Amino acid sequence: MQNTISQQGRYFAFDAVVIGSGIAGLCYLLEMVKLKPNATFALITKGKLHQSNTHYAQGGIAAANAPSDIKDHISDTLSAGDGLCKLDAVSAILEKGPDAIQYLLKQGVLFDRDANKHLLCGKEAGHSDRRIFHVGDKTGAAIVDALLKELSTKQNISIFEDHTAINLITQIEPHQPGASHEAVGVYILEESTGLIHVFSANVIVLATGGAGKVYRYTTNPNVATGDGVAMAYRAGARVGGLEFYQFHPTLLYHPSKHNFLISEALRGEGAYLRLPETGERFMQRYSDNMELATRDVVARAIFCEMETRGMEYVHLDITHKSKAFLQKRFPMIFDTLLSLGLDLSRDKVPVVPAAHYMGGGILSDVNGKTDIKRLYAIGETAFTGLHGANRLASNSLLEGLVMSRNASNASLVFIDSKPDLYKPIKAWDSTTVVDSRRASQINEHWRGLRGEMSCYAGMVRTEAGLHDQLKLVLTRKEIIEECYWKYTITRDLIELRNIVLVAELIVRSALNRRESRGGHYREDYLVKLEDSEHSILRGEAQ
Ligand code: FAD
Ligand code: SIN
Repeated sequence: MQNTISQQGRYFAFDAVVIGSGIAGLCYLLEMVKLKPNATFALITKGKLHQSNTHYAQGGIAAANAPSDIKDHISDTLSAGDGLCKLDAVSAILEKGPDAIQYLLKQGVLFDRDANKHLLCGKEAGHSDRRIFHVGDKTGAAIVDALLKELSTKQNISIFEDHTAINLITQIEPHQPGASHEAVGVYILEESTGLIHVFSANVIVLATGGAGKVYRYTTNPNVATGDGVAMAYRAGARVGGLEFYQFHPTLLYHPSKHNFLISEALRGEGAYLRLPETGERFMQRYSDNMELATRDVVARAIFCEMETRGMEYVHLDITHKSKAFLQKRFPMIFDTLLSLGLDLSRDKVPVVPAAHYMGGGILSDVNGKTDIKRLYAIGETAFTGLHGANRLASNSLLEGLVMSRNASNASLVFIDSKPDLYKPIKAWDSTTVVDSRRASQINEHWRGLRGEMSCYAGMVRTEAGLHDQLKLVLTRKEIIEECYWKYTITRDLIELRNIVLVAELIVRSALNRRESRGGHYREDYLVKLEDSEHSILRGEAQ
């Protein structure tokens, strides 16, 4: 006997609803509150406030270290992006780098300084100069803590932790050719009650971060399931660049410590990559820049060595630096490794490449404007064209910060004006839902999909493998869609539905790109096309 379950919740109305509590969501709100102190805001986040990619950022935030460095920062970004960066986005964002650092200093972020109190800059791969501002190796946590402290003083922001956005509510002006498509609200699952609420708003901001959980090995926390991309695509927005999922070269390889990144800043301070058996610095066979070649090159070199030699990992070696230096420069990594029995000053660290950053996303300009009126996308979930085919290290915190401040100004125009609703917004309808799906069946799809994506649509791709993967993804998608409409909605089910859609979009984009460029490597199309363009997919409003 199956019981019908009602998940229908309440109705909330705000001037703006922001989904995501990483750097992008938090900075947007802090700016907006300054501009509109009497407006009402909701901050929705599916875990606790600090659960975001931002919190785990280690290396730091890239910004020109002097006015004269802006042109070099731009040129390094363009060369990492391998011919696909949008120059106007690159200039608009990177020129605001120094201003972004001043903004964070004002928010109370204590960037590292030398004995003379000058700000210290680190170096990372692909950068021709030291321009990574950092707080030890916990830059992201320091930024989030400072922004949250500031946010806690604001009365007009209502915070909803453990709430997961499910779907955007949009409307299209009836019977009007070329009518505008507009976002008017969002359905939100409250985890503790299982109720699904309607949040209506004049402005909706997607600051939902990346999708590392699409792959088996990732540096990302569990919240990174590409929800923003999936929601926007389902609402009819365009997405782009999704074949360029970036793999970080050095995730710790350890049986019990998962998702632990060993920052690129170690290589910036001179760490070597070595083969475990012979100790060879194998990067000499791949790039003149050795360990400081761009991330796509280093990650692929490691993958290639592991595949051809049947190894499970390679070694990162910084034992030639003093213990005192390492403890001061990388305190969190040093202590974490020590707790696992590895002394960074004496032991080589086993590392593997892992999915790290979603290079594509929801098509938007540098102000976060998307195809859908009143809908803004900012930070990692957005695709501005800054990163091209491969993101330059530490450019993403900067992009999140600059875009969110731009977006607050750009969305001001809608904050006070309610959309004219052509039909009232419907409450969540769960009249056909039955509560009979086993959680283990959802988990099995998660495991299967992530393994398949790593194998067929990971760091090295072929036409045949991508076609196989498309079939697998579409089969899973059909089953998962059926579950979504028939059974009680849970956060796991929402995330699974989203990762399977994002996986499909990655595979379709990878199939469309018959060349090797940046983070997208096709064994069957090794050369670069002369007239390469951005890959754009348009969603179908559902
Ligand atoms: P996030 O910080 O990922 O925030 C997304 C938020 O959205 C989260 O709060 C999440 O819970 C919420 N969310 C998602 N879906 C939903 C939903 N459906 N409903 C409600 N809430 C939702 N970049 C750098 O520039 N420098 C670095 O040193 C650096 N180091 C990194 C180290 C690690 C380990 C990782 C994983 C990434 C690193 N990056 C770094 C990348 C960078 O951290 C991210 O690109 C950036 O922080 C993204 O910020 P964001 O605000 O767009 O998203
Ligand atoms: C790192 O510290 O290696 C991550 C930097 C980044 O992803 O930009």
